[in-house]
Amino acid sequence: MDITLVQGDITEQRVDAVVNAANSSLMGGGGVDGAIHRAGGGRILQECRRLRDTSHPDGLAAGDAVATTAGEMPATWVIHTVGPVYSASADRSHILASCYRRSLEVAEELNAATVAFPAVSTGVYGWPMDSAADIAVRSVTESSPTLGEVRFVLFDAQAYEAFSRALG
Ligand code: APR
Repeated sequence: MDITLVQGDITEQRVDAVVNAANSSLMGGGGVDGAIHRAGGGRILQECRRLRDTSHPDGLAAGDAVATTAGEMPATWVIHTVGPVYSASADRSHILASCYRRSLEVAEELNAATVAFPAVSTGVYGWPMDSAADIAVRSVTESSPTLGEVRFVLFDAQAYEAFSRALG
């Protein structure tokens, strides 16, 4: 499995699956979630509603992941995961690590060969970038999925540099 880094917009990636930093409601939001729903169109929300009506009546738990279509984006699937809100007093690293591990499990179930991740929890949810990058890289490395490529798509130079350092 190759781990690659790009600075850019995750909605434009030509990969099999893009991961969304969603919230438990699966009903959309700001940040990367807003960008993915805008770029993919209404079919994503339609499938999210169906998931809420069937398998996930109480929403998606933090650390878990679930897939929908990617709608009009170049990707085939969106894998929605819910990051933990950062807390300085409680260690929620295992939940953030679980987002990456569970997303890769879902990707394997879909037979996706290439998966793009944003820096989950580092926006609205407040996780410090360097720490998030370390957890992301470690979790993906330890998950050792049979996929071809895991691509981290970082929105700005600061995030790109943090992931670069974490990859070492
Ligand atoms: N492509 C790649 N990365 C992006 C994009 C994009 N188009 N847009 C934003 N980002 C980056 C942000 O710069 C940040 O580093 O994604 C990272 C995650 O930020 P958020 O999208 O705010 O996600 P998160 O911190 O996990 O918070 C989740 O935000 O809007 C909501 O519905 C979402 O409530 C949930 C919360």
